[in-house]
Amino acid sequence: MPYAKIIGSGGYLPPRVVSNDELAADLATRHVETSDTWIVERTGIHQRHIADDGTTTSMLATKAAQAALDNAGISASEIDLIIVATSTPDFIFPSTACMVQANLGAIGGAAFDVQAVCSGFVYALTTADAYIQAGRAKTALVIGAEVFSSILDWSDRGTCVLFGDGAGAVVLQASNEPGIVGAHLGADGSQMGILSAAGNVSHGKVTGDPFLRMDGQAVFKLAVTSLAKSAHQVCEQAGIALADIDWLVPHQANLRIINFLGRKLGVPDSKVVVTVDQHANTSAASVPLAFDAARRDGRIKSGDMVMMQGVGGGFTWGSVLVKM
Ligand code: UT7
Repeated sequence: MPYAKIIGSGGYLPPRVVSNDELAADLATRHVETSDTWIVERTGIHQRHIADDGTTTSMLATKAAQAALDNAGISASEIDLIIVATSTPDFIFPSTACMVQANLGAIGGAAFDVQAVCSGFVYALTTADAYIQAGRAKTALVIGAEVFSSILDWSDRGTCVLFGDGAGAVVLQASNEPGIVGAHLGADGSQMGILSAAGNVSHGKVTGDPFLRMDGQAVFKLAVTSLAKSAHQVCEQAGIALADIDWLVPHQANLRIINFLGRKLGVPDSKVVVTVDQHANTSAASVPLAFDAARRDGRIKSGDMVMMQGVGGGFTWGSVLVKM
């Protein structure tokens, strides 16, 4: 059975950077009180990128995908599978993946979206890995992309300061050399209420609540425990010790969650990739953006063992182990 090897990665962040001070000043005009001090102390976030009106998830996804193709040195015509992880698709349908496929001119292969909120990228990566291992695809684009700013309630300071927009992508190719060596996914639908955007469009009207709602403390606790458990499960499955991990690339929601997780797993800070300070929480885009940043600045190198981890609404979680 072939392995799925990562042969390229790319990321794209919309150019508009909003600092905590800028956001706090803007929210003050809406009588919503927050501060740089609170945001940094509680989350580690200093800034986020926000898409301009009219910029959609498929646009961000296409730019990240093109960057990943360029990095891999292959053309779009070689892609026979595109999976986009997103909770903020451009439309009800067609899928964002089909729009990206058309934008890239990669017509012919399979293209579909995966919805697992902030765990979306690890769910999509695991799915693409299964396709490649089964011989059903040779070269796949796996993308996490979000315009999360479009589902934020800017009067809810408990959520609106936490998120940003962006996209990240990897190119996977069938190989005889190890690539993805382990994957573990999990979900607990009974916890759906702690993080949701429980709205819909029905008969031409928005029904329910179209904004993101979160019980922050419940999410915090479940995130740390489920990620720690998933890390142990995927290592056990792959026959790898946690000490053998060169880089941990966890979902970027909150620096305190990342620090708790690192301590629980005994992984030193020097092996943990952090971008939440610069990007905030970009949901399904957070893991591929962090992975790409660490790969491009030379931290993640060929031969390294990398663990990527996602956690989020559903409630969902998952871990993927990759030999670079
Ligand atoms: O991708 C997965 C999705 N999300 C997450 O992983 C997030 C998980 N949760 C968290 O990161 C944290 O729970 C938060 C950052 C959301 C909140 O931190 P916390 O330490 O749990 O704060 P809290 O909700 O207990 O609120 C503490 C205080 C409250 O005031 P009182 O009741 O103590 O007077 C809040 O009203 O902080 C207040 N507060 C704020 N103050 C200033 C909440 N949001 C803000 C804000 N600015 N933006």
